[in-house]
Amino acid sequence: MAADRVRNAAESESGPLPQNPFKLRHVPKWNDVSDFLSIRAPRLDYSRARVEACADIWDLRKLARRRTPLAVFDYVDGSAASEITLARQRDLYSRIEFEPRVLVDVANVKTRTTILGVESDWPFVFGPTGFTRMMNHEGEVAVGRVAARHGVHFALSTLGTTSPEELRRAVPGGRKMFQLYIWRDRAFSRELLARVKESGYDALILTVDTPVAGQRLRDVRNGFSIPPRLTIKTLMDMSLHPAWWFNLLTTPPLEFASLSSTGGTVAELIGQVFDPQLTMADVEWLRSEWDGPIVIKGVQSSSDAARVAAAGADAVLLSNHGGRQLDRAPVPLEILPGVLEAVPENVEVFIDGGVMSGGDIVAGLCMGAKAVFVGRAYLYGIMAGGEAGVEQTMKILAKDITTQMVLLGVDDVSKLDRSMVRVRER
Ligand SMILES: Cc1cc2nc3c(=O)[nH]c(=O)nc-3n(C[C@H](O)[C@H](O)[C@H](O)COP(=O)(O)O)c2cc1C
Repeated sequence: MAADRVRNAAESESGPLPQNPFKLRHVPKWNDVSDFLSIRAPRLDYSRARVEACADIWDLRKLARRRTPLAVFDYVDGSAASEITLARQRDLYSRIEFEPRVLVDVANVKTRTTILGVESDWPFVFGPTGFTRMMNHEGEVAVGRVAARHGVHFALSTLGTTSPEELRRAVPGGRKMFQLYIWRDRAFSRELLARVKESGYDALILTVDTPVAGQRLRDVRNGFSIPPRLTIKTLMDMSLHPAWWFNLLTTPPLEFASLSSTGGTVAELIGQVFDPQLTMADVEWLRSEWDGPIVIKGVQSSSDAARVAAAGADAVLLSNHGGRQLDRAPVPLEILPGVLEAVPENVEVFIDGGVMSGGDIVAGLCMGAKAVFVGRAYLYGIMAGGEAGVEQTMKILAKDITTQMVLLGVDDVSKLDRSMVRVRER
């Protein structure tokens, strides 16, 4: 055998090989053990420690599930009908393959960018989500505080549980956008716009994918309503999530801050107040009412992107509402290249949907998005641990973006481009 011949040759030159010193054993002394010891006193803030131990957004999701009533968790986690859209967008992110550049100086990575002319320290936005104080009593203010601390934009929803003025007061600095649903009652929309303007919001996001509520089947099965009703089932749930219920019952009442609701399901609420007769003329109307930047959210084709740009939009947010409206909707990441060709260069194009990591955000930027909006990623954080949970979401996304960029060999978000990504079949 060739191996035996090599060994024999080595042994015949200098006699038998010495024994491997790492195979010699001794009885361990205290010093041998103490070098490895790292026993810390248990933390008194166990709840926060659990949040800080979450290594990724999926860990936060797991903790959120444990700390929140099932109906509330499902309201966030679920999407419409057969939930095909949400699964497809996550699948597409998992099929992205990066092509790294090696031997590039990446000692200093720059993640700062501008979003509609306003600086942002990170290329993502905490997108608009309604009813946030239901996920955790600390609500939109907690999200706004984390956003302000890290130089990230936060978009407050019309269906928020904090009013535009309250958020402004609670988080005076910070980069804020307001997401608008146009009401059947236009006078109300006009009034709300005036309040948002008065409160100094940077930009307006008009959501146009909600002429009617999507079929959220988990909500139907759970008998979910806003605010939650006290039924035998919810009373039983109290014993499983006492902290959530205690927080709900001992803090200011959970209500929509910008509209008065008689209670009921989300579908009933949307049916009562949202206008299913919105047309492109309403984008033009909004343009005449609001002189700051306007983003149209919920655009899902190149032709619509071109039309809203022509009607005066400064940006489009390609979104299918996180799969919560039309099931089998296009995946924003997939239609992004076509949309970029269809709109003038000065129109910024954002995407959202299915983002669970900083790597997903980097993929979106490589494909050409100016910024990526996140929804559930921070909602899992807030459900897991209020403001500390949102902070953990921020830390996870920030660390992941930076690490991915270093490994990709890119030192500035503005240098991420299409040549660095491919979509694998599987
Ligand atoms: C619980 C929840 C509430 C939402 N509420 C709103 C809303 O009030 N207005 C809006 O324009 N979009 C709303 N969205 C959609 C998000 O802005 C965003 O499009 C979506 O969450 C992106 O997908 P992701 O959650 O997978 O990141 C909501 C999403 C969730 C999960």
